[in-house]
Amino acid sequence: MAREQWTSNLGFILAAAGSAVGLGNIWRFSYVVGTEGGAAFVLIYLVTIFLIGYPLLTTEIALGRKTQKNPVGAFKALAPNSPWWLVGAMGVLAGFVILSFYSIVAGWSLAYVFKALGGFNAGDDFTGMFVGHITSVWPPIIWHAVFMALTIGIIASGVVNGIQRATKILMPVLFLLLIVLVVRGLTLEGAGAGVAFFLTPNLGDVTGETFLRAVGQSFFTLSLGMGALITYGSYLKREDNISDSAGWVVGLDTGVAIIAGFAIFPAVFALGFDPASGAGLAFMTLPAVFAAMPAGTIFGFMFFLLLSVAALTSAISLLEVVVAWVVDEKGWTRKQAALTIGGIIFLTGLPPTLGMSLWSNVTFLGMDILDTYDFFASDILLPLGGLLTAIFAAHVWKTKNAVEEINSPKGTIVFGNWYTILVGYIIPISVAVVMVWGLYTKLFS
Ligand code: PFF
Repeated sequence: MAREQWTSNLGFILAAAGSAVGLGNIWRFSYVVGTEGGAAFVLIYLVTIFLIGYPLLTTEIALGRKTQKNPVGAFKALAPNSPWWLVGAMGVLAGFVILSFYSIVAGWSLAYVFKALGGFNAGDDFTGMFVGHITSVWPPIIWHAVFMALTIGIIASGVVNGIQRATKILMPVLFLLLIVLVVRGLTLEGAGAGVAFFLTPNLGDVTGETFLRAVGQSFFTLSLGMGALITYGSYLKREDNISDSAGWVVGLDTGVAIIAGFAIFPAVFALGFDPASGAGLAFMTLPAVFAAMPAGTIFGFMFFLLLSVAALTSAISLLEVVVAWVVDEKGWTRKQAALTIGGIIFLTGLPPTLGMSLWSNVTFLGMDILDTYDFFASDILLPLGGLLTAIFAAHVWKTKNAVEEINSPKGTIVFGNWYTILVGYIIPISVAVVMVWGLYTKLFS
């Protein structure tokens, strides 16, 4: 069977943006900005996005389009009889681990669709509502199962039909809802302290861990370092441009994160939440914002529904990486692969959710099981994958070939020597330094 292809360049941009924009922009971004001290983190994150994220995103798409393969196959095709395919395999592992906790958080979002219908009222205990939900045993597991079933269903039905259609209308609506939240948040009394937290960097608090978390967040939010964009690039037509499409994806993703920050932090300070409260920050703060606005029930309902959809378009790209690998390399059918792998991911998702309830005494380096999965995949596997992909593109595939692939057909953004220097030297060295320094501060201070 011929490999499926995106039907248009716009279709590709929307699917890749659908992968990028998700829980990472709203839930993970706000929670990590909060725990890592605010604006200084945001600054490092933005620099990483443009200097490291954009060139690497382009590189991954080019690797995919050139080889028309899944991540493992792509490395094998360009460097046969070498161990480079292990970078692709590491990506498949990262996709597996990320989806198993991503689906839990997406399940929280689904549960909140119904909590919103029950009404968010001023004066409610939203912290208690969130803690009550995640520390219960069955509801989070059931919502995790529902979310995985949806993801499996879309992947089983194929790339173009499944993925492309799902992204087109819903994302602009999510964007509009975020703007409504920004307006409400900024007009709350005491919002200024949140704006300052988000925008005025305090460089005194920056440690190696701040850098590592910022790099990890950039990779996570752009779906980078695990071959998701190699996979999506492999369904791209030769005549479609790469560099501009990648620019759109990075721009949209970053825009959504920054707007989400303006929707959340002013409200965090105005309503008396703790910015460093961790993984529940958005789930505790946003309902309180809805409670403080007219028609908050309807807005709250729509918001969590769309957040769940955004999570779904990201989750399908995570599952697709693993499924494309077994379909291409092991000859499984798409349906078999989606069902079997999705089922296993559901099971590996059980420890992180039980880590909030029955197993809440289990911790590693002070992190619960969900944070441990997240840290291992997002702050270690993704940067390592990105670093090795950069070295591979520059020194094995050679930047000359990468640039040729990226520039045909030429877009408004033209790749040249600057790219050779970035991807060949600056990116691998800076990511390596950040990883070593970050892990050192995490483990020994
Ligand atoms: N980028 C997604 C988000 O920000 O929610 C998460 C993600 C999707 C990470 C796909 C990695 C990936 F391959």
